[in-house]
Amino acid sequence: MEIPVDLSGVNLEWIGHGASGSIFLIDSFEPAISLKHIITRADTRRNEFLIEVETLKRLNHPNIVKYLGIGKFKQKRTNIWAEGILMEYCGRGALCHLIDNPAIIYTIYNVVSWTRQLIKALGYLAENRAVHRDIKPANVFVSTYFELKLGDFGSIKEITRSCSSFTPAVGTRRYMSPEQSKSISGKRLSHRSDVYSMGLVIWEMIERRKVFARFGSHYDYGLFATEDRQLIDVEVLECEPEIRFTVEK
Ligand SMILES: Nc1ncnc2c1ncn2[C@@H]1O[C@H](COP(=O)(O)OP(=O)(O)O)[C@@H](O)[C@H]1O
Ligand SMILES: [Mg+2]
Repeated sequence: MEIPVDLSGVNLEWIGHGASGSIFLIDSFEPAISLKHIITRADTRRNEFLIEVETLKRLNHPNIVKYLGIGKFKQKRTNIWAEGILMEYCGRGALCHLIDNPAIIYTIYNVVSWTRQLIKALGYLAENRAVHRDIKPANVFVSTYFELKLGDFGSIKEITRSCSSFTPAVGTRRYMSPEQSKSISGKRLSHRSDVYSMGLVIWEMIERRKVFARFGSHYDYGLFATEDRQLIDVEVLECEPEIRFTVEK
């Protein structure tokens, strides 16, 4: 493994957190960088950390967050050395915050351009035989100039000949493809699962709301699959009566 950059004495500003821990901004570098997934040598999540590092290292695409190395520093409270992943800092945070922020106005032309960027990132992953498995607006980051970059490679899986079915626990249920969610036996993991999740991201960019929100944050595809007809009816009833389908239709 490479020699970590010593961050002793560098100011770490907390900017957010996800399932795997806190994310910090280091603005004393130009351009600014972020530090993610802080772990100690004894940490049980070290394996996940190493997988994310190894994956990021070999990916190089303008729409994938750039890996810059490993940073180490002594934790103030415990005095124990810790390490984190250094990555390019995306000044506007996660896409979910951009979608939610009414102060940011964007048009369908922006959505088309962002969709292209995300599809390019997915195409690149597919070429590299990798499946992200956790595509969602919280894992797409937005640069200062509003370019989208796919991030959070903590769940990535390389497709190999021996790679068989899905691991049900991996991913976020709301955005999981049906085959991923139900881990249908015999179905092999493929980049098509990422395509499904990306479809939902694009849908959310267009509508500026969480899709399937009525199912709560732990939405289960199984529920939708049995009630999809009803769901369409609800959408139709909610819109203007003039454009509502007639019973015959
Ligand atoms: N490179 C980055 N630039 C800007 N914000 C980031 C960056 N990396 C992470 N974040 C912020 O931290 C949050 C969690 O990061 P993420 O990589 O998804 O971690 P986790 O694996 O814990 O989910 C993101 O949703 C985003 O708001
Ligand atoms: Mg995340």
